[in-house]
Amino acid sequence: MNFDHKILVTGGAGFIGSHLVRLLVNKYPNYSIVNLDELTYAGNMENLKDIENASNYTFIKGDITDADFIHELFSVQQFDGVIHLAAESHVDRSISNPMSFIMTNIVGTVNLLNAAKKAWEGKDGKRFFHVSTDEVYGTLGETGLFTEETAYDPRSPYSASKASSDHLVRAYHHTFGLPIVVSNCSNNYGPNQFPEKLLPLFIHNIKNEKPLPVYGDGKYTRDWLWVMDHATAIDVIYHKGKNGDTYNIGGHNEWKNIDIIHQLCDVMDDLLDRAKGSSRELITFVKDRPGHDRRYAIDATKLKDELGWVPSLQMEEGLLKTAKWYLENEEWLDNVTSGNYQKYYKEQYANR
Ligand code: NAD
Ligand code: DAU
Repeated sequence: MNFDHKILVTGGAGFIGSHLVRLLVNKYPNYSIVNLDELTYAGNMENLKDIENASNYTFIKGDITDADFIHELFSVQQFDGVIHLAAESHVDRSISNPMSFIMTNIVGTVNLLNAAKKAWEGKDGKRFFHVSTDEVYGTLGETGLFTEETAYDPRSPYSASKASSDHLVRAYHHTFGLPIVVSNCSNNYGPNQFPEKLLPLFIHNIKNEKPLPVYGDGKYTRDWLWVMDHATAIDVIYHKGKNGDTYNIGGHNEWKNIDIIHQLCDVMDDLLDRAKGSSRELITFVKDRPGHDRRYAIDATKLKDELGWVPSLQMEEGLLKTAKWYLENEEWLDNVTSGNYQKYYKEQYANR
C-alpha cells in the first residue's frame, strides 16, 4: 500500500505515546505510522492491542540510545516526520538513577537529531517534533504562569535532562536548519499511565486499601490535562505549528495535590461502594521528594490563539473516567505492576 506521509513516533507504547499513536492511526489512514519503542518498564504493547493489526501501523522494538541502529533505521525507512516522546519520565526515578535519564533523554534525542539531519539534508517538508514538559521552567510561586518566554530553570535530573534535549533540538534548528517544533506540556492523566505516577498509584492503593503517600505538606500544585487532549494538541502542532516554534500545552486546571487526592478518594468511595470518607483515611503524609517543585501552571494562550486548540475535558469528568478505567482494567494494572507484560513482550520481540 502507498502512503502519503510516514511518521516515526518514538515511545509509542508508553502512556501518552499510545494515545497519540491510536489517534494518528485512526485519523490518518493515508499515513504510515511507525512506533519505535524499547519496551522499558513503562511501555507495553497491551496499550495498543486494538490497533496492532491496522494496515498503516508498524511496531519496531529498539533503543534510541543505540546510534548505529537509529542511523540504519532512518536510512531504510525514509520518514517524513518524527514525533519524539521516548523518554525516562518519572521524577522520583531520576533522583535514584539519573544516568538512565541522561542516556535516553539527552543522548537518545541527539541520536535522533543526527539521523534526521543526515536523512533530510536538502529535502523539504520534513518535521522533527520534540515532546517536552513544563518542568523545564522550574517552579512558580503562588502566582504567575509559564509562558513560552519563561527562562529555563530545571531542578530535578529529569527536568534537567528534558531541558537539555529541548536546547539541543533548538540548536539543531538554528545551527543546521533542521525543521523542528517543541511543545512543553503539564501533568497528563488518564488510562495506560504506569502506576508509579500520582493518580494511577493512588487508585491502585485505594483499591487495595494501602496507604496513600503524600509528599511533604501536600500543597504542591500541578496543572492537569486529560491525556487525549495532549494527543490532539500534538496532532494540531505537528500539522500547523510554525517551524522553529515552541508551544505550551496545558489545561488551565491547577490543583493542589491534597485537593485532587481528596477528590479522587471521594470518587473511589462511590465507585467501590465504600463508606464516604474511608479512602481519605488512607492518606499518609511522608518525607518530601528532594528538590520538589512547588507549583507548575501553564499559559497555553499561544496554542489557542494561533492554532485554535483548547482542552476538551473538565477534571471532574476526567477523574471519574480515569478511576473507572483502572478499576475496569484490573488485569492491566496487575500485569504492569508485577512486570508480567514487560516479560511477555520482551520475549515476544526478543529477536526483532
Ligand atoms: P512513559 O514513561 O509512559 O513512556 C515512555 C515510553 O518511552 C515507554 O514506552 C518506553 O518504553 C519508551 N522508552 C524509554 N526509553 C527508551 C529508549 N531508550 N528507546 C526507545 N524507547 C524508550 O512516558 P509518558 O508519560 O508517556 O511521556 C512521554 C513523553 O512526554 C516524555 O518525553 C515526557 O517527558 C513527556 N511529557 C510527559 C508528561 C506527563 O505528564 N506524563 C507531561 C509532559 C511531557
Ligand atoms: O509536569 C509534567 C510532568 O508531570 C511530566 O513531565 C512528568 O513526566 C510526569 O511524571 C509528571 O511529573 P510530576 O512529578 O508532577 O508527577 P508525579 O505523578 O510523580 O507527581 C505529581 C505530584 O504528586 C507531585 O507534586 C509529587 C506528588 N506525589 C507523587 C507521588 C508519585 C506524591 O505526593 N506522592 C506520590 O506517591
